[in-house]
Amino acid sequence: MKKTLLFIASAALLAQACGGSLSPQDKLTVHDKEINALIAQMTLEEKVNMLHSKTNMSSAGVERLGIADMNYADGPFGIREEGVPNGFQSAGWTLDSATYFPTGSALAATWSEELAYKYGSGMGKEARLRGKDVILGPAVNIQRLPVGGRTYEYLSEDPILSAALALRYTEGCQDEGTAVCIKHFAVNNQETNRGSVNAILSERTLREIYLKPFERAIIEGGAMSVMPAYNKVNGEYCSENEHLLNEILRGEWGFKGFTVSDWGGTHSTMGAMLHGLNVQMTGSNYLGQPVIDSIATGALSEDLVDEKVRQILRVRYAIKPVPADVANTVMTSQPESQQIAREVAEKSIVLLKNEDILPVKADVKKIAVIGQNAVLKTQSGGMGAGVKALYEVTPLEGICKRAGKDVEVTYAPGYKTIAFRWGPAPANLDPLEARSNDEPADPTLVAEAVALAKDADMVIFFGGTNKSIETEGSDRKNIDLPCGQNELVKALYEANQNLVTVLISGGPTDLRFLEPVSPAIVQGWWNGTEGGTALAEVLFGDIAPSGKLPFTFPAKLEDSPAYAMGNFPDPNGAGGDLFSLMFRPDVLKMSPEERQKFIDSLPKPVSKYTERFYVGYRWFDTRNVKPMYAFGHGLSYVEFEYDDLKAVVGKDAVQVSFKLENEGSMPADEVVQLYVHRIDSKVEWPTKELKAFQRVSLRAGETKVVNLEIPLKELRYWNEATNTWDLEHGKLQLLLGSASDDIRETAEVTI
Ligand code: BGC
Repeated sequence: MKKTLLFIASAALLAQACGGSLSPQDKLTVHDKEINALIAQMTLEEKVNMLHSKTNMSSAGVERLGIADMNYADGPFGIREEGVPNGFQSAGWTLDSATYFPTGSALAATWSEELAYKYGSGMGKEARLRGKDVILGPAVNIQRLPVGGRTYEYLSEDPILSAALALRYTEGCQDEGTAVCIKHFAVNNQETNRGSVNAILSERTLREIYLKPFERAIIEGGAMSVMPAYNKVNGEYCSENEHLLNEILRGEWGFKGFTVSDWGGTHSTMGAMLHGLNVQMTGSNYLGQPVIDSIATGALSEDLVDEKVRQILRVRYAIKPVPADVANTVMTSQPESQQIAREVAEKSIVLLKNEDILPVKADVKKIAVIGQNAVLKTQSGGMGAGVKALYEVTPLEGICKRAGKDVEVTYAPGYKTIAFRWGPAPANLDPLEARSNDEPADPTLVAEAVALAKDADMVIFFGGTNKSIETEGSDRKNIDLPCGQNELVKALYEANQNLVTVLISGGPTDLRFLEPVSPAIVQGWWNGTEGGTALAEVLFGDIAPSGKLPFTFPAKLEDSPAYAMGNFPDPNGAGGDLFSLMFRPDVLKMSPEERQKFIDSLPKPVSKYTERFYVGYRWFDTRNVKPMYAFGHGLSYVEFEYDDLKAVVGKDAVQVSFKLENEGSMPADEVVQLYVHRIDSKVEWPTKELKAFQRVSLRAGETKVVNLEIPLKELRYWNEATNTWDLEHGKLQLLLGSASDDIRETAEVTI
């Protein structure tokens, strides 16, 4: 009979009893005594059995001792449908339809810590309904490359914004009793050769940019598990990277939970065991029998195995297993989460440009909706995490519903995308009709669309990418709009100048051609279950748009830092496209060991980060390169007035206050952004860096006093000479504004 783990006291009670408050990580250790007693009862085989996957989405407990298996759920933006035990193919369940939350960059476009918390809690709750203990998310890598295949999953190009949202997602999720597995640790900023690329970067760049989101979620949020990335960092695979896993994560940050390799991302027994990995996913060829053999020869000690098991069991104690007769008894997607998904979508939509086209005017009686992205579902497709959504309101459905009986809506696809390569094609896309994304516009489809445009009062053009273009496993070749969209939109504009473009994508696109022929442009994202509803609300003016870009839209790809510095693509072309090679029939037949040998025999791809901490707007501002749309940009239907900026330096923080007024005639949210510029610094800095932000809701005509705070520790830099965080004393200019290129007030303080 199964025994259940007993919980002797909550961490908080124990902390009180011990007379102090424990840090979020230390709370995980309160059951260590019991855990040690449990480990003493386990055989070596039982312990080692916990160090590798049991199925594709679980690792083993010890049934004899009442230790439940650990069940994992992909991924960051919705609980993935149940797969067969040993693969990703659907298990064909009926109750596993989940809420599709807006993807990472959409969440980040809300700039809302409150919504990140709600998002995490919605995910955490649905995970519990499915009997899952750990969510494989949030995915918080910095968006270094505009072409990045997983930009849509990640949050932002800025570490402060990413870190604040990662922290709140973590808290929201873990408060529901589900652990996060924050990923991909670290510097997994490209999909090209992700399984072998060596990211070479300086310690300052690593600390100030790429580690920040992990650091806050782990130290302040108590993230219970961490997924080491596929790539190497400064020469070592992340799953066996002494510096990252042992020195920084466990040593400096005090991490007490466990690490789970990315799927197939473990590379050796000794490396993984000695340098910080707890669980090999998937397989057991490294952290299975070879561990037992190494203990027999004395190469590894059983104490090390005990230590790893203890770290796993801490999370097992903190996260109660869902009883088998409770899990999977109701539909995963719940109305409460659907509401969260809607709120995130509503606040994520970014109005990039508006020449008095939006909101849709009362005299518009016929709207031509053009573009296949108006009907394509984005919940799954491409490779990697996706959601079997209980429902997904497409943009066209949202518009039709909101337009009502008085406004006629017509639709033409205008272009057709290629079939989704790695996942099932969405129901409404016929894979046989698929065509290459690089193909020019199809004259028949263009003519049909133009005819509708001519006959309408207004055109809403849906452009952007799709899930086969932006996908895990590969980066985009470029950021061009696919499927001949540029040609199409020009023809539409010639037919009807009352035109708005809505971009449906997770990352930036090249708008040089589209911008002059689009009097209004909206970034609409992959916006979840209620994406179409939210979009219609914004287009028709029921709510004012309030999203702000979490990344820079470069005018052209070559302007962005890694390209401008010649760092990406790998100038040596080393490794070829390893991902495609992995799908070659002969490679597919190889055993994991043979495949590893094959990978090792290939030239070694590198990614040099010589642009250092000049990522995103830090680069564009410092180099004076004008982007198409700047980081933090986003318009509203109202104007905001900033006034009366005051700043004082306190003991631990710079305190800032100012007045913000909504000058318009409708309620609206503004995301206020506070950047710093260093005056006469001896240290090298980007021209400006975001240090604080807040989403503020204001009624029509309302004025509020807004307070912001910059903790002094956030002003420090990583001193490579001493290997410490140092605070430089001197003058700072505070730049307060509505976007990184729209600064409204400034003040000076001395630290
Ligand atoms: C991805 C992870 C994901 C895992 C399991 C890997 O390929 O990189 O983000 O959680 O697969 O699906």
